[in-house]
Amino acid sequence: MTDFEPTIIAFVCNWCTYTAADLAGTSRLSYPQNVRLIRVMCTGMVDPQYIIKALLEGADGVLVSGCHPGDCHYINGNYKARRRIKLLKEILPQFGFEQERLRLTWIGASDGIEFAEVMRELVAQIRDLGPNEAKLKMVI
Ligand code: FES
Repeated sequence: MTDFEPTIIAFVCNWCTYTAADLAGTSRLSYPQNVRLIRVMCTGMVDPQYIIKALLEGADGVLVSGCHPGDCHYINGNYKARRRIKLLKEILPQFGFEQERLRLTWIGASDGIEFAEVMRELVAQIRDLGPNEAKLKMVI
């Protein structure tokens, strides 16, 4: 399992986590290349279907990350995301996915260092978890 490199899809809010990713890049902070960022205007617009689809079609892990509670540019989008992710985590095992394959974080626009750390930690966690078995079944 040592040569397994996970693919991680990260839905990141335009105003906070995407800006933090940009800051990490301009600050020349390194983080694993395994993470594919998908910029959304707010975590509140991440439909649970997007997450299930990502896991079914090849992702080994999914991250949803946005503004800290109270900082959402659309007032309460991140609170909606938090409720949805909590419920989705409860039903993920019914689809054959471990709950640890989905994570929600808050990373502010000035947290470039934290962004890089979270990406490294997430990739290490998913690498330890191993390949997404449900994805492998879909391929076969
Ligand atoms: S605008 Fe960033 S989470 Fe809503």
